[in-house]
Amino acid sequence: MSPQDYEFLCKLLKERSGLVLAPDKQYLVESRLLPVARKAGCDTLEALVRKLKAPGSEPLKVEVTEAMTINESFFFRDKIPYDRFRDTVIPDMMQKRAVQRKLRIWSAACSTGQEPYSLAMMLDGFSTLAGWQFDIIATDISNDVLDKARSGSYSQFEVQRGLPISMLMQHFEQVGDQWRLSAKIRKMVQFRQLNLLTDFSILGQFDAVFCRNVLIYFDQPTKVDVLTRIRQRLAPDGYFVLGAAETVVGVGDLFSPVPDKRGLYCPTVKREAAPKLALVSASGGQRVA
Ligand SMILES: C[S@@+](CC[C@H](N)C(=O)[O-])C[C@H]1O[C@@H](n2cnc3c(N)ncnc32)[C@H](O)[C@@H]1O
Repeated sequence: MSPQDYEFLCKLLKERSGLVLAPDKQYLVESRLLPVARKAGCDTLEALVRKLKAPGSEPLKVEVTEAMTINESFFFRDKIPYDRFRDTVIPDMMQKRAVQRKLRIWSAACSTGQEPYSLAMMLDGFSTLAGWQFDIIATDISNDVLDKARSGSYSQFEVQRGLPISMLMQHFEQVGDQWRLSAKIRKMVQFRQLNLLTDFSILGQFDAVFCRNVLIYFDQPTKVDVLTRIRQRLAPDGYFVLGAAETVVGVGDLFSPVPDKRGLYCPTVKREAAPKLALVSASGGQRVA
């Protein structure tokens, strides 16, 4: 692939999904995009790039973008964030939302669904939350992963990664060589296609947002932009969770770590500036203190 073609593809991917590719990732682009090229009737990536530059290439651009996404996920990934969810977030929110009896949770960049389903199984395990309403919204840019997520079907390999055997027995049934999640847990999660680079204010406000293992692919300005807008979607007393290798260092003071709860963040509460007092001077004129 020529440097110009590689540059074209990098620019396309950055604009459409935020993915930043290092100069040494040509092999990755080739291995991911050659099958897309062949499907589109192109023998080479050069031919694919020509097709992408031609009018009417929008569906192909979508396919190329989806093919380059990294969709690795598994149930209860990294364990600690889920321990925090169970031991800190849920008990705290049960008190804070005792009147509304409703929790709204967003799994942003949910991939094949293991993250929101892990949260749903955990919520289902709380008998004290019986009668509460849960809105678990799970979004991803890729329609392919969302199709799989909606099916709630996972291979033996997938259910062996992170899912406790007790939960497998309780919530899944074996159908052929797949394990199908119960309708009860599947119904707790609503999947929607959403690109984090676009406006997502329509989603409303959440009590907890999980945005894990996606911002690592973005450059700093994109990361700051997405985090700023996520912050706006989070209730002031809500919680934010990042991936194990991610931090909010360098993104301003949007979120603060919850003390002694590694991996858990809350929106930074800015102290109101002291109100300026208008003083009336002896001569009757006003000055501001
Ligand atoms: C590595 S997976 C993370 C899945 C899950 N959050 C976890 O930690 O296990 C990253 C996901 O981000 C999605 N993604 C990449 N760019 C995105 C964007 N601009 N908007 C929304 N989702 C995006 C990919 O399609 C992929 O499914």
